[in-house]
Amino acid sequence: MYTPEMQESVKRVEAARADNLKLEPRRMTAEEKDSLLKAFHPDYRQDGFVEIKIGPNAGQKVPTELGHLLHSNSRLLQDPVDLGKIDYDVDVLVIGGGGAGASAAIEANEAGADVMIVTKLRIGDANTMMAEGGIQAADKENDSPAQHYLDAFGGGHFAARPELLRRLVMEAPDAIQWLNRLGVMFDKEADGTMITTHGGGTSRKRMHACKDYSGAEIMRTLRDEVLNRKIPVVEFTSAVELIKDENGRVAGAVLLNMETGDYLVARAKTVIIATGGAGRLHYQNFPTSNHYGATADGLILGYRAGVPLLYQDTIQYHPTGAAFPSQIFGALVTEKVRSLGAMLVNADGEVFMHPLETRDVCAASIIRECTAREKGVQTPIGTGVWLDTPMIEQLGGAGTIEKRIPAMLRMFMNYDIDMRKEPILVYPTLHYQNGGLEINGEGFTKTIDNLLVAGEAVGGIHGRNRLMGNSLLDIIVFGRNAGKAAAAKAKEVQLGTLTLSHIEAYAEELKKAGENTEDVSPLLLPNYARHER
Ligand code: FUM
Repeated sequence: MYTPEMQESVKRVEAARADNLKLEPRRMTAEEKDSLLKAFHPDYRQDGFVEIKIGPNAGQKVPTELGHLLHSNSRLLQDPVDLGKIDYDVDVLVIGGGGAGASAAIEANEAGADVMIVTKLRIGDANTMMAEGGIQAADKENDSPAQHYLDAFGGGHFAARPELLRRLVMEAPDAIQWLNRLGVMFDKEADGTMITTHGGGTSRKRMHACKDYSGAEIMRTLRDEVLNRKIPVVEFTSAVELIKDENGRVAGAVLLNMETGDYLVARAKTVIIATGGAGRLHYQNFPTSNHYGATADGLILGYRAGVPLLYQDTIQYHPTGAAFPSQIFGALVTEKVRSLGAMLVNADGEVFMHPLETRDVCAASIIRECTAREKGVQTPIGTGVWLDTPMIEQLGGAGTIEKRIPAMLRMFMNYDIDMRKEPILVYPTLHYQNGGLEINGEGFTKTIDNLLVAGEAVGGIHGRNRLMGNSLLDIIVFGRNAGKAAAAKAKEVQLGTLTLSHIEAYAEELKKAGENTEDVSPLLLPNYARHER
């Protein structure tokens, strides 16, 4: 499968492998990391960002593609909707059918609320489903939530909101038990002990996994629970705008049936935005590991309603996206591959970094290797470095790859690349938005009543970089909390008259700021989607 030039490079990797296996690569110093990030991490590229012109974050920088959506108008200005005709009337409306949305709906239902999920694709079509490596929780004797906090706080450049990160780590062990009780098939020893491994930036082995399809297994279980509880799920229907009441509190959402093009009105006492990430905006032309619907819709809905963003300028590029072959370009190669012992090596087989540095550092290091150092491996479509996967079999014994990361084995085998015998080629891929809408510890937005946010649409839980396995964790912890809080709050809410006046005010501000695009947002589907009716 590899080109002749790549095969030559593979020979150099094989020749160096025995020595590389004996290496203990050193960790970078804080100063080295800082200068590496400034020089090579995409977050530091001036040409990838624009300034936000209006709203709570005016004057701050944002990725160009997200900026364009923030500077676009609501489609409802062209297509007015009759708010007098209510199609759905619920206590809690959950926007998004991924792990955070499902967890929220389950807990709201458990608390007795009348809850409904609306999702633009199907329930489970979400980044949760794509997650591979695992979920962190400090539940072993040699570990503690405090240790977990320190790892995540440092890994996030000391920028995480303490009240959010504290909840994440303190409630992690219970999140694992909750999932276990619901039926998630975690990897366990014969005596039932959970198997845990390291991830980048962890000081203890606290990554719980379901082989390398942890997210799919968790999503399967959550989806089954939603369906078993008979929670209504409205699929192929997007939330295109939040509705407020005359007191400025959130009171529901306008929905768009993606198949018929009809608008629907959902009135709700509380609304939870759980719309996930933004990979399909392809910032700086990066490929993505994200699912098809990851287009930052919740950020647009929330911002237009007046909720501030936090760390919207920081994006996670997963260091190891597949760089070859082109059919899987940008697909996730789980960090677990490195946890199990595979090292990153350049075209000459040289180890150029510790494989479990934090993700931002690791991605920047790979980009440096392929650019400034000119030690990348050329492919017909780009460049990359080797992830020397046969090391895993040598360290863990024959069969380790098939047992621990079968999805990876299958993904590459589809293209006749046997990762047990030859290395695989990787390059950073757009994976996660570190930033999002600002919330308080309970999950409520700080500025708009009755509105909560959970999952990847939240900013501040992880600071400016997230550790592996803390995202599957945050969707459970913050999803559950949001569901409980929304259900409790709904008991005391009396809604007034519904209005969309905030979208007209937003349009006025855009006009004053000289932003005149005809484009509308949220985007809903990627720019390359086929719109067939
Ligand atoms: O590498 C991975 O398996 C990704 C995990 C994550 O983003 O948490």
